[in-house]
Amino acid sequence: TRVAPRITVIGTGYLGATHAAAMAELGFEVLGLDVVPEKVELLSRGRVPMYEPGLEELLRRHAAGVEGSTGRLRFTTSWREVADFGDVHFVCVNTPQRHGEYACDMSYVDAAIDSLAPLLERPALVVGKSTVPVGSAARLADRLRELAPAGPGVELAWNPEFLREGFAVEDTLHPDRVVIGVEPGGRAEELLRRVYATPIAEGSPFVVTDRPTAELVKTAANAFLATKISFINAMAEVCEAADGDVVRLAEAIGHDDRIGAKFLRAGIGFGGGCLPKDIRAFMARAGELGVDQALTFLREVDSVNMRRRAHMVELTRQAVGGSILGTRIGVLGAAFKPDSDDVRDSPALNIAGQLHLQGAQVTVHDPKATENARRLFPTLTYAGSAEEAVRGADVVLHLTEWREYRELDPAALGEAVAHRRMLDGRNTLDPEVWRKAGWTYRALGRPTV
Ligand code: UDX
Repeated sequence: TRVAPRITVIGTGYLGATHAAAMAELGFEVLGLDVVPEKVELLSRGRVPMYEPGLEELLRRHAAGVEGSTGRLRFTTSWREVADFGDVHFVCVNTPQRHGEYACDMSYVDAAIDSLAPLLERPALVVGKSTVPVGSAARLADRLRELAPAGPGVELAWNPEFLREGFAVEDTLHPDRVVIGVEPGGRAEELLRRVYATPIAEGSPFVVTDRPTAELVKTAANAFLATKISFINAMAEVCEAADGDVVRLAEAIGHDDRIGAKFLRAGIGFGGGCLPKDIRAFMARAGELGVDQALTFLREVDSVNMRRRAHMVELTRQAVGGSILGTRIGVLGAAFKPDSDDVRDSPALNIAGQLHLQGAQVTVHDPKATENARRLFPTLTYAGSAEEAVRGADVVLHLTEWREYRELDPAALGEAVAHRRMLDGRNTLDPEVWRKAGWTYRALGRPTV
């Protein structure tokens, strides 16, 4: 039998940490690299530096620094070790939005290639997983060949990742599809088939294509998802003007298989480390390619999305009688979505911040994201419980749909607030229950009474 390829994972954020742990779970020997020594130290001891359900358990089963683990998973800061160890190197570093621009910042990917390449003395496969502008793979492949002592023995493939935060482990172990982009004639396809010829791809479609298509699959998928959300939010605007109910509308159109019920939840819109920056980077890249017209609709997708935040601020102003200044506002939720402690481009935190700037006294609660939120917005007040956040509030805003908020008792909460006014920015609370308990309940895109 052939020896299983040895795997390295470069970058240990949501994507890298999960991918590394999943590969170890599938039986591979894995070495993860991060340039931050503290992260390496934590991960080695089986600790995950962010909130991601199930990831810590998976990590602890395999991390070499955990007693009783399989020891298949190790972490390092050494490029030399990574280059010597790996047959397949997965690049999982961040590609954030460039400051003040639409384009994405490729510096972490470029740095990873530049650090690894000069050390590759034997044939290896480098696999990009980060979300990048189309055309990056070809450019990076040239760079690899130029810098690597093994020259043409070093190949580059693209293998986009579709994991959702909060479901990272599930999405990695049971992906909807595996997509790989390869150059014809190389060993990449065969090697990647071996890596994924495990329970991971069992029952999942395996799509083999060229590298630009593989890069595009990821951006196209995220652009489609963002468009779907902004579509239903645009419908919410119309519903509000016409006294319609966007929740029933979404339910009804969702019954059509061609439309599908998922990703039609109207509310304060999308945020996070992916969708917003990915559609912007996609527009920037289309511009470079001379086809910016093809994606001008994404500009609208972005503006509908940003309007949601402004609209929520406006509804809050109306709810408190015309002026935000000096009011007390209780905010439920800071993370960009539930089951995550991520506050990157979080609509919830953005709205809380805007209200604070307009002179409200804003108190925020989130079950997991408080620490990250405090780092980003230290001037807001943070509470240890929902009850504490709404104490004395003139209005309560429900901005991240954590399960525990659905289970709140409106009657009990009503005792704590100054005024029973609820603005539901996620359309997941039951209007009737809240109204029955004496609250003025208002939601985006739904009739007022
Ligand atoms: C997304 C993609 O789903 C994933 O495939 C890709 O790999 C990375 O980007 P993620 O950012 O983790 O994943 O979150 P997702 O669940 O897609 O939600 C994104 C945002 O859209 C959240 O702010 C969420 O609240 C919002 N959203 C989602 C809506 O407002 N309405 C919906 O119907 C669905």
